Amino acid sequence: CGIVARIGESDEAVDELLAGLDNLEYRGYDSAGIAVQRDCGVDVRKRAGGIDTLRNALAAAPSGGAVGIGHTRWSTHGPPTDANAHPHTDCLDDVAVVHNGIIENYQRLRQELSRAGHVFESDTDTEVIPHLIESALADGAAPAAAFRAAVDRIDGSYAVAAVIGGRKAVYAARNDSPLVVGAGDSTQYLASDVPAFLEFTDRVAYLEDGDVVRVTPSGFTVTDADGERVRRATETVDWDPKDTGKGGYDHYMLKEINEQPTALGRSVSGRTDSAGSTVDLDGFPAGEFEGVDRVHLVAMGTSYHAAMYTEALLARRGVPARAFMSSEYASSPPPAEDGTLVIAISQSGETADTIAAVRAARAERTLVVTNVVGSSLTRECDDALLVRAGPEIGVAATKSFSSQVATLSLLSERIRRDVVGTPSPDAEAFLSALTRLPDQVRQVVESPAAEEIADAFTDSEAYFFIGRGPGHAVALEGALKFKEITYEHAEGFTAAELKHGPLALVTEDTPVFAVFNGGSDDTETLGNVKEIRARGGPVIAVASGDTPDLEGIADHVLSVPSTHPELVGVLANVQLQLVAYHAARRRGRSIDKPRNLAKSVTV
Ligand code: G6P
Repeated sequence: CGIVARIGESDEAVDELLAGLDNLEYRGYDSAGIAVQRDCGVDVRKRAGGIDTLRNALAAAPSGGAVGIGHTRWSTHGPPTDANAHPHTDCLDDVAVVHNGIIENYQRLRQELSRAGHVFESDTDTEVIPHLIESALADGAAPAAAFRAAVDRIDGSYAVAAVIGGRKAVYAARNDSPLVVGAGDSTQYLASDVPAFLEFTDRVAYLEDGDVVRVTPSGFTVTDADGERVRRATETVDWDPKDTGKGGYDHYMLKEINEQPTALGRSVSGRTDSAGSTVDLDGFPAGEFEGVDRVHLVAMGTSYHAAMYTEALLARRGVPARAFMSSEYASSPPPAEDGTLVIAISQSGETADTIAAVRAARAERTLVVTNVVGSSLTRECDDALLVRAGPEIGVAATKSFSSQVATLSLLSERIRRDVVGTPSPDAEAFLSALTRLPDQVRQVVESPAAEEIADAFTDSEAYFFIGRGPGHAVALEGALKFKEITYEHAEGFTAAELKHGPLALVTEDTPVFAVFNGGSDDTETLGNVKEIRARGGPVIAVASGDTPDLEGIADHVLSVPSTHPELVGVLANVQLQLVAYHAARRRGRSIDKPRNLAKSVTV
């Protein structure tokens, strides 16, 4: 879910809240709502459906004000109905609250409040908060004290913001869920994430867990978990507001696919050179990883595929490494062993499962590879390495994967040098290939081949993706992208796994995308392709010119430029992103906001 607040003097809260929600819609889009503060009470408007449904409702019956809160929801407690949409109010409609997270003790609080005569209108956990505030106000507490009294009673993870009738202020708190203040001159903002208010201010203050903040048009004051006044420094973010728009593309996803050359350039630039002689990672000098015996990589979704890719890179560099889904790692963390480095990978830095994995890790050191400065995982981990992909809005991750793999390629080489004592045998070829990757990705995005393939397979029963080593990670990512945005059945496998079961599913109606690395393992993958063809399955090879013998074996070839075998996967992945995009577009899908999904799963 995403929350936003606007606290100003001018009567523009509704427009600015809607603009903020548009920029946060990637966090959920099951329902949306706003509340503006009035001299007496609060005016709440909320609807099931996306922000446009809410906007249309407001066009028909306008609201206005200078101070307000807004919310876009990804459902956890209760289905996406008008009643379950945020903001939620107290019995008197004097308090309105938006919330992101989960309140673990809400059932007990709800029973207690119901016994005291409070009437609930929704199935949500959130609704207990306005009632707790109402009850503290009724006991005579001032608004700020009533808000803190409510926050002190709730357990769980939350970012919560409230408006109270007659008070030109927003009261907010965070615990395990992101909340950022946007500091303007005479207007202040609050949001789950910076893009929400970036068009209004680029000065931000990141709140810490346990913080309670009172925001008025002239500024904000923060108290920590003990109620002590604390200062949270304001810094300027260097994201360009234009980066968060669609920039003339029909979809964020297509824009972000096309941004990959620039994003990759930023990930690599200054960190190695075209001769491939250096690895220079800010904050991680030579010798930094001496004493590391093994690496555990934890991540979810697309970031998990970047973790698998890295597992292959590290293994090939003689460093024991294993990729885990964060949720599994959190529920069964491996035993403590000296010399374990845990690397969390997360575009947003906010994924709840990955935060849980880091907390459960019994490791000497944790490091996050993330795209978002100041995100929760940068606080949870001992160190952070930024991938520098720039803001990613499309729910289907694209440029963040390429930038993660590029950044982790450099990190893998740094770790290898510190652990083994020497550069990997073909380090120069690998690193210099990395510097050429941005131009090669540009060639891929300019080619029409992926769209032609998407058009050639429109009525298939299922879509399979296979590969080995880094190509296996790319096969899984290709299938994830395809299923996320086309809603077709798509599955990824290691190439060898197919004949141990999934081959039973292969028919002439199941196209198989085979990812080739352009290295010595291509021969085996070619053998697997022949097994598929023998069963009538159409094969689309995704390969560079370094893979021989494809003519006459694969039905189609989606070619990518030649590069180091450990980096072909990045180029192949861009082809598969484009196939998924064009396939989804042909089917008229909601590409940037696929059904049931959210970009940042913070619960
Ligand atoms: C969600 C998104 C995925 C993303 C995953 C991990 O499932 O829909 O696109 O890969 O979360 O997100 P993270 O921000 O941790 O990389």
